[in-house]
Amino acid sequence: MTSTEIRKRFLEYFVKILARENMEHVEVPSSSLIPENHPTLLFTNSGMVQFTPYFLGEKNPVSDFGSKRLCSAQKCIRTGDLDIVGISKYHHTYFEMLGNWSIGDYGKKEAVRFSFELLTNKDYGFGLDPSRFYPTVFAGNEDAPEDSETIEAWKSVGIPENRIPKLPASENWWAPGPVGPCGPCTEVIYDRGEDFGPEESVPGLTDNPRYLEIWNAGVFMQFNRNEAGELVPLAKMSVDTGSGLERLSVLLQNVDSNYETDLFRPIIEKIVSLVGEKSSGETKKSVQRVADHIRASTFLIIEGLYPSNKDQGYVLRRLIRRVFDECVWKLDIDSSKIIEIIPTVIEINKERYPEIDKLDFITGVFKTEIDQYKLATDRTRSFIIKNYVKKGVKDIINPFDIYQSQGASRDLIENLAIEQGISIDFSNFDSDVASHQDKSRSNMSQRFKGGLGDHSIETTKLHTATHLLHQALREVLGDLVHQMGSNITSERLRFDFSNDTKMTDDEVKKVEEIVNQKIKEALPVNKVVMLKADAEKTGALHFFGDKYGDEVSIYFIGDSIENAWSKEFCGGPHVTNTSELGSFKIIKEEAVSKGVRRIKALC
Ligand code: SER
Repeated sequence: MTSTEIRKRFLEYFVKILARENMEHVEVPSSSLIPENHPTLLFTNSGMVQFTPYFLGEKNPVSDFGSKRLCSAQKCIRTGDLDIVGISKYHHTYFEMLGNWSIGDYGKKEAVRFSFELLTNKDYGFGLDPSRFYPTVFAGNEDAPEDSETIEAWKSVGIPENRIPKLPASENWWAPGPVGPCGPCTEVIYDRGEDFGPEESVPGLTDNPRYLEIWNAGVFMQFNRNEAGELVPLAKMSVDTGSGLERLSVLLQNVDSNYETDLFRPIIEKIVSLVGEKSSGETKKSVQRVADHIRASTFLIIEGLYPSNKDQGYVLRRLIRRVFDECVWKLDIDSSKIIEIIPTVIEINKERYPEIDKLDFITGVFKTEIDQYKLATDRTRSFIIKNYVKKGVKDIINPFDIYQSQGASRDLIENLAIEQGISIDFSNFDSDVASHQDKSRSNMSQRFKGGLGDHSIETTKLHTATHLLHQALREVLGDLVHQMGSNITSERLRFDFSNDTKMTDDEVKKVEEIVNQKIKEALPVNKVVMLKADAEKTGALHFFGDKYGDEVSIYFIGDSIENAWSKEFCGGPHVTNTSELGSFKIIKEEAVSKGVRRIKALC
């Protein structure tokens, strides 16, 4: 089944097939990738974003759309996974999400039945085998009980209880961002069989390609998380569902990766046809990354976005420059050829999104940015030749000089050094860059999360302090304590964690002392990148399950990963030694909700 047919079938089920039982939905067009009036969200990251005011009761869906039952295919951008894009088979910057919504209309039972029927029906649905379904449900915690109604709903369509994994909030609680409507969810995991990977007792907890998550078949939005971090019950429950078109296509086209579906294959083929003889050899990851980033950039450009140093424009700049770096340095594709890939992206998408059919405009934006970056590259190369090569210097020990005078990224400096046959020592580079970062960016960067975060020295210190605090809390209060949320500004850290009671003054003092002791011990902070399955074996703390990709980074504090005092899955940034933190002070310990406490602290 082509992706166009999959999208059509999905929407037609809700609009036409369900009309037979007077449950028809209204199809709402995709909203912009840049959300309107959304201070905490840089990009539309799921189908529900445009409906937020309706869930909160601020707007009426019947007045605006003529129904409380809606469906859509939504253009989305996620930047949290940027570092693994190209490596992972299933994560993208841009992707399309199919979804249906009940705004105070039907509930859990119907949501489950609709998704089951659409996935399994052979005439008008996708004809999938229900004996391979593992629908996961929320196991319950201090905030909300086990989702027994959803368990019953799956049983009533014939899924036995032993194939319904009950998972913690890290897996089965969904929220669009730090604030907004949220609640427990149920995700359909599809077992592709032993050819794809080993059997697992609890499917849905790892990235095993055998178990493909194909549909978040219901986020049951019963709460709104407000600015203060509190969960406030909503007057009426709403249902939000989302299924990635790329993943459904993997399954229904029986391929192994999103890049092998018809949404990507022609783009990959085009890039491969351009790869030069001097390519690095390990091209697959780079080709995939280029395909992803060109597609995402194209969709961002038709939103009217230009590359810049601010907010969304900065993401677009990063994407285009990364395309340049991958093409020029890894794939041996001449930078003037990059724009030749754009027509294929347009061709695949223009039937559904006719607004994308603006080749000259999109090419113009790409060309301007590429030319600008090329100039910067040439300037940096001349600088290196003049100051190092001509002077016979063979080792660059202070790359920070190049960064500071040329504004060149670490990747670019490294690529140019290799090109010029010079070795380079980056050991102090990151902390130098961190202290040089423009602080005015911090507010913006915070919203990018992993990989694009604010690297100012203040926030970097507070990131490391957060790891120390987390471990100290576990020592004082016990191993049941774990992270529920974290928010860092250049002024303070804020850490939410599970704990039933208020901490005593003594406990607070003890935690503070432990952190200060670890600062005094001047422990090294190190990062290792490894496959997620191996990373899990190290015992490093991690609480967000599937949100990590195939490869993860672990920061550990101590001499070796085996003996580290603290180890956590984390994207960073961190200081290189705990002594850089100076001292640590807890300024507040308070309740967030039942069973969740919050600490605010400073360095
Ligand atoms: N908002 C939920 C998700 O993105 C369901 O659509 O998974």
